[in-house]
Order: sequence, then C-alpha cells, then structure tokens
Amino acid sequence: MPSASDTLRSEIARRRTFGIVSHPDAGKTTLTEKLLLFGGAIQLAGSVKARKAARHATSDWMAMEKERGISVTTSVMKFRYNGYEVNLLDTPGHQDFSEDTYRVLTAVDSALLVIDAAKGVEAQTKKLMEVCRMRKTPIITFINKLDREALPPLDLMADIEAHLGIECAPLTWPVGMGSSFKGAYDIRNGELRLFSPTHGGKVQEAQVVIRGLDDAQLDVHLGDQAEDLRADMELLGAAGTPFDPQRYLAGEQTPVFFGSAVNNFGVRELLDTFVNLAPAPRPRPALTATGETRLVQPDEAEFSGVVFKIQANMDKAHRDRIAFMRICSGSFTRGMKLRHHRSGKDMAVSNATMFMAQDRSGVEEACAGDIIGIPNHGTIKIGDTFTEKTLLKFTGIPSFAPEHFRRVRLRNPLKAKQLQKGLEQLAEEGAVQLFRPLVNNDYILGAVGLLQFDVIVSRLAEEYSVDASYESIGVAAARWVVSNDRRQFEDFKDYYNQDLALDAEGALAYLAPNPWKLESAEERYPHVEFRVTREIG
Ligand code: G4P
Repeated sequence: MPSASDTLRSEIARRRTFGIVSHPDAGKTTLTEKLLLFGGAIQLAGSVKARKAARHATSDWMAMEKERGISVTTSVMKFRYNGYEVNLLDTPGHQDFSEDTYRVLTAVDSALLVIDAAKGVEAQTKKLMEVCRMRKTPIITFINKLDREALPPLDLMADIEAHLGIECAPLTWPVGMGSSFKGAYDIRNGELRLFSPTHGGKVQEAQVVIRGLDDAQLDVHLGDQAEDLRADMELLGAAGTPFDPQRYLAGEQTPVFFGSAVNNFGVRELLDTFVNLAPAPRPRPALTATGETRLVQPDEAEFSGVVFKIQANMDKAHRDRIAFMRICSGSFTRGMKLRHHRSGKDMAVSNATMFMAQDRSGVEEACAGDIIGIPNHGTIKIGDTFTEKTLLKFTGIPSFAPEHFRRVRLRNPLKAKQLQKGLEQLAEEGAVQLFRPLVNNDYILGAVGLLQFDVIVSRLAEEYSVDASYESIGVAAARWVVSNDRRQFEDFKDYYNQDLALDAEGALAYLAPNPWKLESAEERYPHVEFRVTREIG
C-alpha cells in the first residue's frame, strides 16, 4: 500500500494550476470554453460565453452585482483531463481588469498566452507578461484566429520576442491563413492536421492526413502551399529556435502553437502539451519564524496556504467575503484546524469551497496546487498565510502600483467616519488602493482598471450608506519608496513632501504628477528605490 506521503506526492504531481494571459478579444473566453469542453467540465459551448455576455452587456455596477454570484464560482475552474487535475484561474480582463488580475498570476504555476494573429502583442498582454517575467512563470503561447487574415507567423514570433522578451520556439506551424488557411504542421512528429471550420460547440477532432514533408499527399492536399511549408520548415530548421523544455520551465522560452479556438483547431494539441509540459505545483518562498527565507516544498506533510484574492460575497445581508487561498503544501480536509498567522488564532475551516467548472461545492479534500475559498467576515486579508502550526509568512503576493487615480469627495460631511471605514474595508479586498497624503486629509483612490472606481462608489452607497463622488487629481503614477541611505531619504522626503502619501498599510508612496517628474525624482535620488510592487503584510 502506498504511504500517505507517496499518495500526497502523486496527487500533487497531477495538479496543473494556471491562468490565461491575453488582451481583450484575443479569444481567452473561447479558449477557456474549449478547454472545459475537452475536460468534460461542460457539455456544450456557450455557458462561459453567456456569462461573459451578461457581464459585459453593461458597465452598470448594479447589474454586475447580480452577476457576482456566478463570477465568484468561476474565478477558479477545475477540470480533469487525461488523469490531470487542472485548475484554471480566471484573469479578469475587460472592464473588470484590476489589481486582482495581476495578483492571480502570482498564484499560478504556469500560464497560457493567447495572441490574436491579426494584432500581435497588445497593451494588456504586455502588462500581464511583466508579472510573469518577474516570477519567471513558464508560458505556452497560442496564436489564435488563423482562420482570419493574420500577420505572417515569423513576424508574430518576432513581435513576441521583441515586446515580451521571451524566446519563441514553434511546435506547430500554420499553412496559410484566412481563406487560404489549410491547417497546421506539427514540427515534433511531422503530422499535418487539415483545417475544417467547426463553429459548433461540440468537441471535434481535426483529421490527421499526412505524415512527414515527403508524403506525396502533402502536394495533393496543399497544392502550391506544400512547397511553402517545406521552405518554411527548412528555414526554421536552419534559423529557428529549437524547443528546450528546461528553458521553457525557466520562463526564458515559450513553445508556440497556431490555431483557431473558435474552430477547435489546435486546442487538443495545446492541451495535451500543456498537461505534459507545464510544471506541477512549485515550491514557494516563505519567511520563517526566525526571519529567514526558505522554499516550502509542495509535498511537505504540513498544510500551508496563502490568500491571493478576496471577493465580497453576493449576500449583502451577511457582508461576508470569500478568501481565495492557494494551497502551497500538504493537504486539506474539511474541518481541519488552521492557524491564521496574522492574528495568531486557530480557525476550524468547515465551510471551505472548492471551485468546480459549473458549480461551487464544499471541499472534502484538496492538496497543494488547489485553490479553496474560505468565507469570513473580514478577518482574512490578501497575503495572509495559514498553516497547521509552524510559523510562516509566504512572500510573493504583492500589491501592484495603480495606474489611475481619483480624489474621493464626500457629499455629506457628517459621514466622514463611515467613509473612512468603508474605504479602508473595500481597499482590503485589494481591487483598489487607498492613499492618504502627508500634507492634507484627502482620500485618494488608485486602481489598475477604471471600473473599480464605479464599483467603490456604488458599494459605499449600498453597504455603508455613504454618498461619495470623485474629482480628478493630478497624479499619473504611484511608487512605493524605500531607501537604506537615511540622509538621502530624508532629503527626498523633504523635497517631495507635497507628493507623498501613506497607503492603507502605512507604507510610504510617491504620487508622481506626471511621468517626467517620476523620472527626474529617480535620477535625483539614485539611492531611493521607486517600487512598482510592494509585499503585503
Ligand atoms: P476574450 O475572452 O479574449 O475577450 O475573447 P473572446 O473569446 O470573447 O473572443 C473575442 C471574439 O473573437 C469573439 O467574437 C470570438 O468568437 C472571436 N474568436 C475567438 N476565437 C476565434 C478564432 O479562432 N477565429 C475567429 N475568426 N474568431 C475567433 P465576437 O464576435 O465578439 O463574439 P461571438 O459573437 O463570436 O460570440
């Protein structure tokens, strides 16, 4: 009989926890849906799409609020494929793009990058890839929409290499594009899969017809394009980058697939390669009781986990929240007593939620790599660590510098206390940040996505009975500032006093009125660090 530690190890080895990095409209929702179809988690295409349509039909927060129950359950989609347990973490993209989107990427072991073949690398992709690069996250790339007119494949790869700073190693290669799109050649095994549009929702396999470039069938099916393919392969053989699994795992190289998500084309190969290549749960750094950093291995027997996202519950009457926790080591069973390190208190976790693709279900058991949701009344914050006993504090779940700023205006001055409480509590959920300038009593909100400002005003009214609005403010960027050079730091603080503020956790930030001021401050004070992220807690 296998020992408990062998069982744990093999359970963890089956886990693949990942997120999708893309710009809106590149095809993330479509691909997600196809992955869930292949994983048998949904039977028909349309359900993920329907949710998205409902969510984006209006930017009205109240309408989104009604949707929130659904989006909570779909923040994590779990499905099985070929014996693997796949956890797909949603990276909210359109109007709901926020700091959460960045932070989700700190809870995954790898990512899929989806690029629209007609557009190449776009703005949001660049931002999200910065987080991946910071963490050396292994990335597999899917270049989507080859059934439409697209940029030449070599240009697309050059674009990815130039803008995302990652080497591309194609594993498949497209034959034609748009109306002349014939299929994709699998560079690893020499199989050519012919393309046929299948807009329906069912899982449909592209037929394999040809093996090897010398197969005479190649010319029969591809006509003139057969020679083009041979020439491309020769070129890639001579000048292309061969795939290297070690470089992929180090986040230095991305294997590239070409396909069409809406047509189910290239998705099966992508998923097969993903489960085989992508890393199982990886070790994570944590601070020990003595202040040293150590890597916590996923197969350590003791349970540990870290909270990376807080979501307000739909049920306003209860005003509770769900803390999303990534399990970092060991396993979890229902009712288990966990130590909450920030408060030092033990909690019996009997009501944790595991997220399946379609519905939320109570968790009986989960292990490293899985995500569980813990309902609470605001006691749990982003960055909190839980273990069975041992004192630990996971690092690497940061705050990200916001990109948009507003000054909050209170319509009824008698509600100042409620405003403060509301803003502090809402900021704790992590989608916006609250700054208090050193020189006045303003409340400045910073966010990564603009919709968050509407959400906050609406929730202040609903949950705290506070009538607030916004004024624009001359702030273009925020950077957390630290320095070991005391004299220079004091000098900096004197000079920029007007533009300094404390965030909700009391950390000092420089709110730059424009990018040039930020640049000149960085030049003027070389011993002051201007950080775009800050470790929470
Ligand atoms: P997102 O989540 O990244 O924002 O993108 P989403 O999947 O919603 O896809 C954006 C649009 O691109 C959708 O069209 C979708 O059908 C289309 N699309 C996705 N994959 C492919 C593909 O391989 N080829 C082509 N030609 N189109 C693709 P839409 O018009 O916005 O929605 P719908 O009416 O098609 O549902």
